[in-house]
Amino acid sequence: MLTDELPRVPIAHLPTPLEPLPRLSEQLKGPELWIKRDDQTGLATGGNKARKLEFLVADALAQEADVLITGGAAQSNHARQTAAAAAKLGLGCVLVLRGEPPAEIQGNLLLDVLLGAEIVWGHDEPLNAVMSQVAEDWRAQGRRPYVIPYGGSNAVGAAGYVAGMEELLAQCDERGLHFDWIVSASSSGGTQSGIVVGARALGYTGRVLGISVDPAAEVLRERLSGLATATAEHLGLELTFTPEDFTVSDEYVGAGYGVVSDREREAIRTLARTEGILLDPVYTGKAFGGLLDMVRREFFDAGERVLFWHTGGIGGLFGHRDDVL
Ligand SMILES: Cc1ncc(COP(=O)(O)O)c(C=O)c1O
Repeated sequence: MLTDELPRVPIAHLPTPLEPLPRLSEQLKGPELWIKRDDQTGLATGGNKARKLEFLVADALAQEADVLITGGAAQSNHARQTAAAAAKLGLGCVLVLRGEPPAEIQGNLLLDVLLGAEIVWGHDEPLNAVMSQVAEDWRAQGRRPYVIPYGGSNAVGAAGYVAGMEELLAQCDERGLHFDWIVSASSSGGTQSGIVVGARALGYTGRVLGISVDPAAEVLRERLSGLATATAEHLGLELTFTPEDFTVSDEYVGAGYGVVSDREREAIRTLARTEGILLDPVYTGKAFGGLLDMVRREFFDAGERVLFWHTGGIGGLFGHRDDVL
């Protein structure tokens, strides 16, 4: 395996299921739709961060860290899965969350608290600066903090999705399947860049499309190419990437990060009611809403096979109750 040499802690439930979406495909009369269930990776309700955390936590343990520090939005899935990983391994966890404490503790934030994480509110300070300060404070108390960047998206974390791509292609081999497209939500970039590094290294011939939930396509492509090149180097692969190597759509960002519109609501209801699968409003609802629109606009040929890589986020569904109803 491409990631064999890297330290890894097996904390995710892998391999995740690869399933067809027959009722939805029939309803849409477009390409054959499939789903990769990374909403089932474990770590307190699943999601893409579990794959990254297998490598990030191993790196933290190799450095003898005793507390994990990370940051994100108040309803961050990455924060919640980091809190679960820390609890499972007996490490401390501090989550620096953007903004002010909300009136009601719900969704991922509720899970963070139950998992025993310490919450530090970032107010309007830059998250990275607050995380560095928190790490400094813990160090001053004789502790050994390990800071995980926003979204777990550095070369160490993105290796999780190189391994994810190996897992997917092994499942495809076993079942005689080929996907013309792999579509997922994209934001801090670790997921898409890991998939693309794996795709290039393993000779996958289909296309990988990231649907941005926030950054402009140009900004995201730049981020993805830097991250993919760093990830390849981390794995000892002689591969370099440019922004042109990445297919990204920012057409579905809508009113911005975490703003839930009719598109996300319709996507969540459609997948729930045709296939019994839940999406979240911030990431997968946005990306799947984009995918549904592309299918309806006949972007894909009817003979193509399209995989939606579900990246989880179910905790966020409960944190946005009023938006999704
Ligand atoms: C549920 C979910 N899907 C997708 C993403 C985007 O993944 P990445 O940040 O690796 O681009 C995130 C990131 O926070 C997420 O929580």
